[in-house]
Amino acid sequence: MLELLIPQASTFAGDIDFVIELIFWIVLFWWALTQGAFCWLMFRFRRKDGVKAEYIDGSETYPKKVITWAHMAVLVFDVVIVVYAVQVWHNVKITLPPAEQTVRVIGQQWAWTFVHPGPDGELDTADDIAMNDELHLQVNTLYHYKLESKDVLHSLSIPAFRLKQDAIPGRVITGWFETTKTGDYLFQCTEICGIGHALMPARVLIETPEQHAAWMAANSPVSVAAQAPQAPVAVALGAPVQE
Ligand code: CUA
Repeated sequence: MLELLIPQASTFAGDIDFVIELIFWIVLFWWALTQGAFCWLMFRFRRKDGVKAEYIDGSETYPKKVITWAHMAVLVFDVVIVVYAVQVWHNVKITLPPAEQTVRVIGQQWAWTFVHPGPDGELDTADDIAMNDELHLQVNTLYHYKLESKDVLHSLSIPAFRLKQDAIPGRVITGWFETTKTGDYLFQCTEICGIGHALMPARVLIETPEQHAAWMAANSPVSVAAQAPQAPVAVALGAPVQE
């Protein structure tokens, strides 16, 4: 249902949507039931000539029973939601499957820097590709991200991945996602980080292996330097911060 509004581009996007939809349907069920009961009671006990209103103070057994059983049922649904939510949260935030690639994500007032491993597949080597506000990924690949901030709190929130993680100055936060769908997805910093907060949008481009290799060949500082020795080497934006 939610994928009609926002595409699902990571392996856990569907799991997160499932929990959101589970909550939606449970809440809708209880909302319909309670509103239905409410309207029926209003109609059933509407004002009638010659009938005096009854005074109920809540101590009678029957209304207490109705309330207690409904309350129990709501609690059972709560437990179901919590069980699913904890499972998904554990998978997304606690487990860390082995990475095929690692990218560094650096937030600062007011831009994102994404440091991609170059053709050698290793981060923090001479062929790293740093880009402002563009994250280039290969489809069907499991990535670790190392999230940092140079100044204040920022938040990396990629709706297509159903991923959200705050960046905290002084910390390197490692997490993961696995890309599943090619495309060009917009995202935006989601932590108020100063006057330019709204100017922190970025794009994640999920590419086929061929597209990704072509992008890499065109942008790696090493290959750029080899092709045109006179040309200035691409400026490394946001030099890696000490871990
Ligand atoms: Cu960075 Cu808001």
